[in-house]
Amino acid sequence: MANLIFEMHAPGRKGYTLPKNDVPTPIATCIPQNYSRTAPLRLPEVSELDVMRHFIELSQLNHFIEKGFYPLGSCTMKYNPKINETLVRNPGWNNIHPLQPQDTVQGALEAMYDLQRDLAEIAGFAVATLQPVAGAQGEFTGLKVIAAYHKHNGDTHKTKILLPDSAHGTNPASAFMSGFEIVELPSNDKGMVDLEALKAAIDENVAGFMLTNPNTLGIFESQIEEISRLVHSVGGLMYMDGANFNALMGLVKPGEIGFDVMHYNLHKSFATPHGGGGPGSGAVGVREDLVKFLPYPMVTKEGSQYVLCNNDQETSIGKVHAFYGNFGVNLRAYIYIKMQGADGIMRVSRNAIINANYIMRKLEKYYHVPFNDNCMHEFVASGEWQKEKYGIKTLDIAKRILDKGYHAPTIYFPLIVHEAMMIEPTETESKETLDAFIQAMIDIAKECEETPELVKNAPQNTPIRRVDDTLAVRQLNLHYTW
Ligand SMILES: Cc1ncc(COP(=O)(O)O)c(C=O)c1O
Repeated sequence: MANLIFEMHAPGRKGYTLPKNDVPTPIATCIPQNYSRTAPLRLPEVSELDVMRHFIELSQLNHFIEKGFYPLGSCTMKYNPKINETLVRNPGWNNIHPLQPQDTVQGALEAMYDLQRDLAEIAGFAVATLQPVAGAQGEFTGLKVIAAYHKHNGDTHKTKILLPDSAHGTNPASAFMSGFEIVELPSNDKGMVDLEALKAAIDENVAGFMLTNPNTLGIFESQIEEISRLVHSVGGLMYMDGANFNALMGLVKPGEIGFDVMHYNLHKSFATPHGGGGPGSGAVGVREDLVKFLPYPMVTKEGSQYVLCNNDQETSIGKVHAFYGNFGVNLRAYIYIKMQGADGIMRVSRNAIINANYIMRKLEKYYHVPFNDNCMHEFVASGEWQKEKYGIKTLDIAKRILDKGYHAPTIYFPLIVHEAMMIEPTETESKETLDAFIQAMIDIAKECEETPELVKNAPQNTPIRRVDDTLAVRQLNLHYTW
């Protein structure tokens, strides 16, 4: 455990920095007197080297992708290329303001214009808005577009959104927040939408069907054409949760297989940092006749000029975020797409699929894999065998994985698999890394058999042992005094 910097305090120890700027800065002069500090801040006196060691050590107590493998299914923790970071920090991008005259930010507008079109092209839609700042907000936006479309057509009776029981938790939440009634459909024994249940639920009140594809079991919903035919036959629209698009890019265009609206999680598919509900980007693509319902502004092109266009305020659902979304995040995705090119984008999906299948096949002897047809970019294993035979829970296995130097997979999700462990390696990992992880998982399976107490009491060698997951929420204490 890192030494607490406050406890290393010894009078007279210091680090060196440049002398204080004696030119009054606008910030300093505009702080009202009553908010200005009157006594110096009580900081520990420590040497520069101790400060460096303290912060370097602290930075490594947590797990992060640059430190080790991070197979957190559904959350897609793939490597974010550092060249993106370098490029977005260019002052030309970094120091501009959304209220600046548009002829002074033509480059930024061009990048956004291209990205709106590139995303649409990759997924087979007319255009995409970049305004939503998280996948969940993309869902909300897309569903509001569906609601606006039905209202525009006078179909106010269309109040129901159908979704399968494998849906990501944000799907029913977004549908509810958008004012819809939710109808949950069961999955069949292959982990896909149960068509008979869909047929029974379909009627004139269906506004849309919301489907994650590949679904949260990592399975491609191959009945999509039939589902889409049924939903469209009653005037409903097909919404794709495209958070898992990193398995389809360059291989399948959702807009060409029956979907009308889709959100992308740029932080999952296009290697921008994961937003954790924002600040990310949950761009939304739509078919041509739905464009007028998208949030404004969009970037359009008039002659050779790029402009922010507010034209469709009459039909638009309005704004879902200030200005034009998270520009810096969108820019990273733009750079990533341009660097990959069409072939690279396809290779991303292929490698994500190969990596997940490789791990699944190597582990299926040791852990139950309830839906074990070929998977897409992730798969769901279960700790059920270990629970039945040795009383070891998936939570224990996840904690033991930390001891081996990895982040744990997503656990207990999706809800339709008991003792679920959702593993997503991503395309960015080498075979050596995958093999080492597979070996660690096999070792843990053996430990469950031979030394179960070791697993039940894991983690043994992390900075903090097993914690009470809810205590910090109930008794939050962020205050440290010395
Ligand atoms: C399938 C699926 N849908 C929606 C989301 C929500 O995305 P966000 O966390 O950006 O709100 C996620 C998150 O990873 C997801 O995996």
